[in-house]
Amino acid sequence: MLLVTANVANEDDVKNYVDKTVEIFATIDGFFNNAGIEGKQNLTEDFGSDEFRKVLDINLNGVFYGMKYVLKVMKEKGSGHIVNTASVGGIRGVGNQSGYAASKHGVVGLTHNSAIEYGQFGITINAIAPGAIMTPMVEGSLKQIGGEDGWEEVGKAFVEPNPMKRFGKPEEVGYLTAFLLSDQAGFINAAVVPIDGGQSYKY
Ligand SMILES: NC(=O)c1ccc[n+]([C@@H]2O[C@H](COP(=O)([O-])OP(=O)(O)OC[C@H]3O[C@@H](n4cnc5c(N)ncnc54)[C@H](O)[C@@H]3O)[C@@H](O)[C@H]2O)c1
Repeated sequence: MLLVTANVANEDDVKNYVDKTVEIFATIDGFFNNAGIEGKQNLTEDFGSDEFRKVLDINLNGVFYGMKYVLKVMKEKGSGHIVNTASVGGIRGVGNQSGYAASKHGVVGLTHNSAIEYGQFGITINAIAPGAIMTPMVEGSLKQIGGEDGWEEVGKAFVEPNPMKRFGKPEEVGYLTAFLLSDQAGFINAAVVPIDGGQSYKY
């Protein structure tokens, strides 16, 4: 087991975690490119430019750096699986999330582009598009709206339009990711898989 901490917005940090991994394990079979932030919620005209850059740096540049260094290793080996974390906000407009939406739509674009390039080298690259999954990120987001006292009520109202009327669970995202990182999913490439209880298909 190896733990390397990194700020994914820093290319040198990303190169370092890939180098350290290869030093210890010789190669990389699977890569979950998952780090991300939501950023502050605001109308586009009020969305701070610094905030926009920060969200893009982490959510989009970080994913690009990760693929850039990991793909080199996987190409040498002639196999590998990558899962990038996009979001429903990467396939639909959600509102009040300029930076997040731009970054996650970017992750979807990067996924499609690189998957087309690297399929010939035995590498699959897919993205997942989670809806609202109950993690610290969503708790923080609900607190931006409802405050410390009201966020749970806001959460209940938030999941009301979901066909399954609940938040997703982190482990449900884990099972999907583990499958996409396995050889059983070997012919799934360039897919963007929603995991949102069906909400993104609802009119
Ligand atoms: N929770 C949801 O509803 C939801 C929905 C759609 C997509 N996502 C995406 O799923 C991923 C995980 O989110 P989560 O809900 O578990 O959020 P979270 O805030 O609980 O976890 C995010 C993780 O990313 C790490 N991180 C943040 N900035 C980083 C940086 N600069 N360098 C390295 N690591 C950094 C944090 O340390 C944390 O471990 C994110 O990409 C997020 O956008 C989450």
